[in-house]
Amino acid sequence: MTDSEAIVANALRQGLVVPAFNIPYLPMMEPVIRAVRDEDAFAFIAVARIEWTKLEAGGPAQVAEEFRKHDDPRHVRLHLDHVPVVDEDDAEVEWRAILREGIEAGYRSLMIDASRLELEDNIAATREAAAMAHEAGLPCEAELGAVLGHEEGPLPPYEELFESGMGFTDVEQARRFVAETECDWLSVAIGSVHGAVSGAAKDKEKVQARLDLRHLERLRDATGIPLVLHGGSGVKQDAVLAAIKLGIAKVNVATEIRRPYEAAMRESGDVAAAQEAVYERTAWVLREYFGVSGMRSAVLPDTPPNA
Ligand code: 13P
Repeated sequence: MTDSEAIVANALRQGLVVPAFNIPYLPMMEPVIRAVRDEDAFAFIAVARIEWTKLEAGGPAQVAEEFRKHDDPRHVRLHLDHVPVVDEDDAEVEWRAILREGIEAGYRSLMIDASRLELEDNIAATREAAAMAHEAGLPCEAELGAVLGHEEGPLPPYEELFESGMGFTDVEQARRFVAETECDWLSVAIGSVHGAVSGAAKDKEKVQARLDLRHLERLRDATGIPLVLHGGSGVKQDAVLAAIKLGIAKVNVATEIRRPYEAAMRESGDVAAAQEAVYERTAWVLREYFGVSGMRSAVLPDTPPNA
């Protein structure tokens, strides 16, 4: 059993958050971990399949290898983000093989994403993935509802999406989903969107998302497990801070730290300069956006990790 589950439970109990920083380019690893350590914070280091198929993460084993070079167990754990059953291009994915690869590579928590499937199929795949994770002693995150943005093509106008509650996680479905799948953390759709990683939207300013906090409260009450907010970059700060008090215990952040890396590489081609840009932005996210600097000891359990 890893301690990732206890870490997120500690955050939830105290109204704190564990940020999860995605690593789509391996040189981002060092400055992200350095920023977490310098801010005396605690965070997940994550990679999603889309970041090795469409960006330059390489694969789960490569990210794990880079992680081990810079690992600091007092500050970070490795999380396998979005292993889709059907991907953003509607292709079927060998998700069981990727989960197995993640387990073998030493990831401390896993996410199955069957949210593009019908409810019954999402439940079936998630139940199987959660059983695989639990057998390996790991917690399993799942997704219900549609956190849009990774797909090619334009999104509907944001306000229209938000006002209609399009794709929002259904409360009764969430209650049933958690009971039947035994997933440990649930990614919910309450207004955030993923930053684009391909197509015309990739380098465009990300929409400033709002969150439906009343809906979040209902999801929290129905599920009783830690909830996860994806698309964490650029969400209105007052909304994200309120959400952290209402059941969101993990927030995924990718675009916010990826863009400075890509911009610096475009401008100078200098990896060290790009790494410093990532360091500055990660430190800003921890200190100014989430306000979790100095919170390491509040979320890390007393027992040392069995690393
Ligand atoms: P952003 O790129 O919008 O921060 O989303 C990150 C995310 O949810 C990764 O799973």
